[in-house]
Amino acid sequence: MPFPSTRLRRLRTNPLVRSHVQETDLAARRLVAPLFVRPGRNLRIPIASMPGQYQMSIDVLLQEAKALQRKGITSLLLFGIPARKDAVGSQAYAPSGIVQQALRALKKALPDVLLIADLCFCEYTSYGHCGILKRQRGRGGEGAKERNSQWDVDNDATLKLIAKTAVAQARAGADIIAPSGMMDGMVKTIRQALDQNGFKNTLIMSYAAKYASAFYGPFREAAESAPRFGDRHGYQMNPANAEEALREVALDIEEGADIVMVKPALAYLDIIRRVKDKFHVPVAAYNVSGEYALVRAAAQKGWVEEKRIIREILTSIHRAGADLIITYHAHDIVP
Ligand code: PBG
Repeated sequence: MPFPSTRLRRLRTNPLVRSHVQETDLAARRLVAPLFVRPGRNLRIPIASMPGQYQMSIDVLLQEAKALQRKGITSLLLFGIPARKDAVGSQAYAPSGIVQQALRALKKALPDVLLIADLCFCEYTSYGHCGILKRQRGRGGEGAKERNSQWDVDNDATLKLIAKTAVAQARAGADIIAPSGMMDGMVKTIRQALDQNGFKNTLIMSYAAKYASAFYGPFREAAESAPRFGDRHGYQMNPANAEEALREVALDIEEGADIVMVKPALAYLDIIRRVKDKFHVPVAAYNVSGEYALVRAAAQKGWVEEKRIIREILTSIHRAGADLIITYHAHDIVP
């Protein structure tokens, strides 16, 4: 035959045809905007490594949430920068903690916005780890050097504080609790604590497959949560592993997660697809700070077409299987 019998280009004839056969849509309702809240008034402090993102006091946060709502983005993920940090991260669960204050204010002012509370201790502990520390037995030494080799995160002691924090967040108005510390058993612990305290309808979105990633760099400046020593390889996942991500997700679903998350997104599109194919729960993907910063930096240099590249990236994450996308670009993508 002189011509190909299948003419795929017929489907691309003109904009009308193209839009008629388009397979995926990037709807605003799928997007979640992460926001950083800190104590104070009238504060809108730029985050240097994430141009266009700010640490905000609650009054400013309310304005920002309203602006997002007007654009159809009705789901927010809250991170807190507490007034003070300590060895047990007590501001994470204090009723007067900054995230609890923000949740109450948002719930009151914007009852139709879905409030997601990130639950982790790295922003709240003086040493910046996602759980509280235990001293490993059998080794002495008081010097800083020795300390570095001796620390470890105490999984089960952290679970107790996770339960407390989840209840405090739900009580303050969180619709969804999003544990991000990668502690074993965290989802089960949270589900039990919520149920026992009358929060049967509060959802859990688990950071189920969270990798130990260099893409979190800018976030740690934003949330002032960089570890003071060591790294997160003892609790976050090895980027080389995929099967293990499926085990993490399976366990979290068994423990009661309503939504499971893969994080970061772009370097892990294969994981998103495998999770989506294997499990039948809503899948979220976190388009993280480093992914945002790379795009912003190149755009500022005029090297890429920012709006198009953002749309392409978020479309790829959705096409890979993410039902929900957490992204700092939420504001920019909707005109
Ligand atoms: C940890 C946490 C991290 C992010 C959100 N919560 C990562 C980390 O510091 O290890 C990263 C989000 C981002 O990079 O945008 N609780």
